[in-house]
Amino acid sequence: MKRLLIASNNEGKIMEIRGMFSLLDYEIVSMKDAGLDFTIVEDQPDFSGNSFKKAREISKYTGEIVLADDSGLEVEVLGNKPGVFSSRFAGEYASDEENNNKLLSLLKDVPIEKRKAQFRCVITMYWPNDFYLQTEGICPGRIGFIPAGSGGFGYDPLFILDGYQKTMAELTIEEKNKVSHRAMALKALFELLKAKAALNT
Ligand code: IMP
Repeated sequence: MKRLLIASNNEGKIMEIRGMFSLLDYEIVSMKDAGLDFTIVEDQPDFSGNSFKKAREISKYTGEIVLADDSGLEVEVLGNKPGVFSSRFAGEYASDEENNNKLLSLLKDVPIEKRKAQFRCVITMYWPNDFYLQTEGICPGRIGFIPAGSGGFGYDPLFILDGYQKTMAELTIEEKNKVSHRAMALKALFELLKAKAALNT
């Protein structure tokens, strides 16, 4: 069985990836499992650049096959901000609550029909021989006026999914993992890996 190192220690993400990859021939290993503890600076202009940089640098360092993601929120009326600055929208070490408050104050006078937003996730899987695959997932919705729900993280309490009368934070983890941007990107990667495995046999 091949090893796949996940460039994250986020238990939720790792569980999601384990679930999706259980049908493929990969042993999923977190940074912690591998005894690794370093941070790659996310200084690229887009999600694709950051996820590529993380996957490539960690693969070069470890010699392993590496999967890295980068994700965030894009709000149309704000010119797709906060984008790659999602985790530090209200400042370098801002809490989720501070980021959400900043978003609400910027959208204070914006009516519901102009509050369109999407979560975007880009995943890169990088092999030591420099082959790589990259996929993207999008989850469309709009930004509510008050936070609701206690699940998830980040902007989930403000993000009302298209087709639902609920925020992402009001979904169960199982529901979120069916519709999220990360789930969409993972599904696309899973399909490419199945095709790759079929070509190699
Ligand atoms: P990362 O890709 O895990 O580094 O996520 C960057 C930031 O984007 C997070 O700190 C959140 O602010 C935001 N974000 C990414 N995915 C989600 C999500 O599923 N729900 C809510 N916020 C998210």
